[in-house]
Amino acid sequence: MTFPKFPIIAKTISGLEDVLVKDLESLGAVDLLKLNRAVSFTGDQPLLYRVNYCCRTALRILKPLFHFEILEQKDLYDRLYEYPWENFIDPEKTISIDAVISYTVFTNSQFVAQKSKDAIVDRLRDKLGKRPSVDLDDPDLRINVHLFKDLCTVSLDSSGQSLHRRGYRKNTGPAPINEVLAAGLVMLSGWDITTPLLDPMCGSGTLLIEAAMIAKNIPAGYFRDSYGFMKWNDFDSGLWERVRAESLARVSTLNLHLFGSDRSGRAIEAAGINMQHAGFQNDITLNEVSFEESVPPAEKGFIICNPPYDERIKLDDAVAFYKMIGDTLKRKYSGFQAWFISSDLESLKFIGLRPSRRIVVFNGPLECRFVKFEVFTGKKARG
Ligand SMILES: C[S@@+](CC[C@H](N)C(=O)[O-])C[C@H]1O[C@@H](n2cnc3c(N)ncnc32)[C@H](O)[C@@H]1O
Repeated sequence: MTFPKFPIIAKTISGLEDVLVKDLESLGAVDLLKLNRAVSFTGDQPLLYRVNYCCRTALRILKPLFHFEILEQKDLYDRLYEYPWENFIDPEKTISIDAVISYTVFTNSQFVAQKSKDAIVDRLRDKLGKRPSVDLDDPDLRINVHLFKDLCTVSLDSSGQSLHRRGYRKNTGPAPINEVLAAGLVMLSGWDITTPLLDPMCGSGTLLIEAAMIAKNIPAGYFRDSYGFMKWNDFDSGLWERVRAESLARVSTLNLHLFGSDRSGRAIEAAGINMQHAGFQNDITLNEVSFEESVPPAEKGFIICNPPYDERIKLDDAVAFYKMIGDTLKRKYSGFQAWFISSDLESLKFIGLRPSRRIVVFNGPLECRFVKFEVFTGKKARG
């Protein structure tokens, strides 16, 4: 059976656009175009379902409905009101509007969301005599209004809740990393899935769980049961079951060598619960120990680590802390490739090793560097 093609947009975190292109390509997307914090591509209904289920580095998958030009503020309401919303919004259902704006006649995205909602609700009330209510937390239909300069794109959000909500994390520590960012970092690092991988400040274990899911080809949405598209009028449950079954048929039973440690007993307890819940208790070994006291779990390996940045987790002495990271790497981890993400660019320098890669990526509002150190013995270890 062939399905009609349509444009699709995957939204992501700033800095993950390149890995998102690869991620989407591997799932069958074509005509890929890298944008700012997004990638556009062409696909059909099976692909829309598949990318929601399997793509690790997208936050949301949008299906654009129409575009228009905005020359003055009233165009937003007028053009949204003209669209035949009554053809696919049941007024008994709930809606919510997400608005994103840049370089436009509007300065406030909340105002854009409000105006858009008014236009849609007024149209439905005038045409059907009833209006849908708004539910910001769990609406039946999420509509995305994106304004860039004078171009407005209105899309349906096929994901519903953000795709970073994978559903495996039952317990977190004080500064858990976003699951989409964690997957993106593992993919950016070039980890080859068989080399031993250590996160020596693993907190609730997100980086290791994402790495395990990547290595075993477990769909990103394996632990999640709902997506926005399931509430659409055209939802095809048979097709969804087929897409799911095809994706699950690719899961591998590879044995993994993943290691997590943290100096906090509570973090290790949380990581243990999450790993148990995700079914990785035989793939990931956890240890309550500080990085400085740690013993490398293998002669050679990979480290991917999200240490405190002195932001959400405060450090007594950030310079001394990052110096300790560098000293520990040099003392104990020769033969390892070590990746660290941090927004504390000054303190990062005190690791004292010369980074061989440096990638700009955002963790929430924080501009970070994801840096790679090749730890050698002897002369090369010096920065
Ligand atoms: C930003 S959090 C990591 C969050 C983790 N990526 C997650 O998703 O939950 C930093 C972690 O570093 C740990 N930590 C701080 N200093 C440490 C040290 N010297 N050795 C080992 N772990 C340390 C903290 O206990 C905390 O769990």
